[in-house]
Amino acid sequence: MKNIKFVDPLTTNIEKKNLNAALKSGWLSHGPYVENFEKKFCKLLNSKYSISVNNGTNAILLILMALNFKRGDEILVPSFCYISPIHMLKVLGLVPVPVDIELSNLQINTNQIEKKISKKTSAILLIHNYGSICELKKIKRIAKKKNLYIIEDVSEVLFSKQNNNFVGDCNWYNSEKIISYASLHASKTLIAGEGGIIITNSKKISLKLKILRNHGQKGKPYFYAMTGGNFRLSNLLASISYSQLLRVREIIKKKQLLNSIYEKKLSKNAKFSIMSDPKNFKSIKWGFPILLKKKNDKENIMKILNRNSTLCRPGFYSLSKLNHLKIFKNKLTSKLDFKNAEIANKNVIVLPMHTKIKINDVNKICNEILNYFKKI
Ligand SMILES: Cc1ncc(COP(=O)(O)O)c(C=O)c1O
Repeated sequence: MKNIKFVDPLTTNIEKKNLNAALKSGWLSHGPYVENFEKKFCKLLNSKYSISVNNGTNAILLILMALNFKRGDEILVPSFCYISPIHMLKVLGLVPVPVDIELSNLQINTNQIEKKISKKTSAILLIHNYGSICELKKIKRIAKKKNLYIIEDVSEVLFSKQNNNFVGDCNWYNSEKIISYASLHASKTLIAGEGGIIITNSKKISLKLKILRNHGQKGKPYFYAMTGGNFRLSNLLASISYSQLLRVREIIKKKQLLNSIYEKKLSKNAKFSIMSDPKNFKSIKWGFPILLKKKNDKENIMKILNRNSTLCRPGFYSLSKLNHLKIFKNKLTSKLDFKNAEIANKNVIVLPMHTKIKINDVNKICNEILNYFKKI
């Protein structure tokens, strides 16, 4: 089990060749790889516009700026998720309203959404945790009825398909009211190293995002039409993401293989559960989560698996446990909104899904987990 890491990005000669070409070209900041990557990305997803940025956290920040939300606007979020989107809401003075998750798939509980909507609600932020998927059909119905924006964070589910459509393509809801984004961090399915990508089918929103990404500059040098920032992805890093798109079929295939091995070895076990996905969903997971049942299993298994290196990770903290968020100040929030999130926090571990990992090592990881349960 030596040398297996949770994050271990695979780069090939294709990435090296393009990175070298970008270096040689002298285009180190903005440059042709940025545009080529963006074009190729939205073509692949079957979406109209994609706007690259310098990380996933800035992707959501830029989106929130572009959609003109006002301070105090409420945005529904899952109470168990990666923290950065929540932090960006706080940075802009928006109010994250937590909705509990379901333990069967670790996604926002759709049945809890409607009662969390108030007059101040502007959007639902869907964060598809670990490569499973929220119930888009039901969520669309609610969002349409209440005229809400939908923002989809597809960082951990990129290239998954539902009904043969890529998750995050923005084709399933009113194009002016939906936007999605993904992190291109080194741990993700598609990497830049540090980077992010925003997807929209609205020309208006895409133009605004491009202006905001470059300090608010519009039309001519040093003329600024709105308050923006520097959110640009560098040409060097875009060359890596572009290269990855050239071999995206290979990446998807390997991830599907890893998923099928984990599923085969770890499903139907009374001591823990794996996520249940809908039939028409082909998952490309960021990491493979398992939900343990007994106290101490998480610590014990992590100790065994991580004895040589950080091979598996714990689940996220429930937002209720992060005091700096002052989440209970929100009148809409009660302890019940974190019931499953806190269970997930105590009992989830996440196994590696990167494309460098060997099949033999995945089998070994599964066997170590199964052996642990045989012994106790
Ligand atoms: C779901 C999700 N959203 C946002 C981010 C933040 O992206 P970045 O690290 O590129 O800023 C991450 C992780 O990196 C993530 O997993």
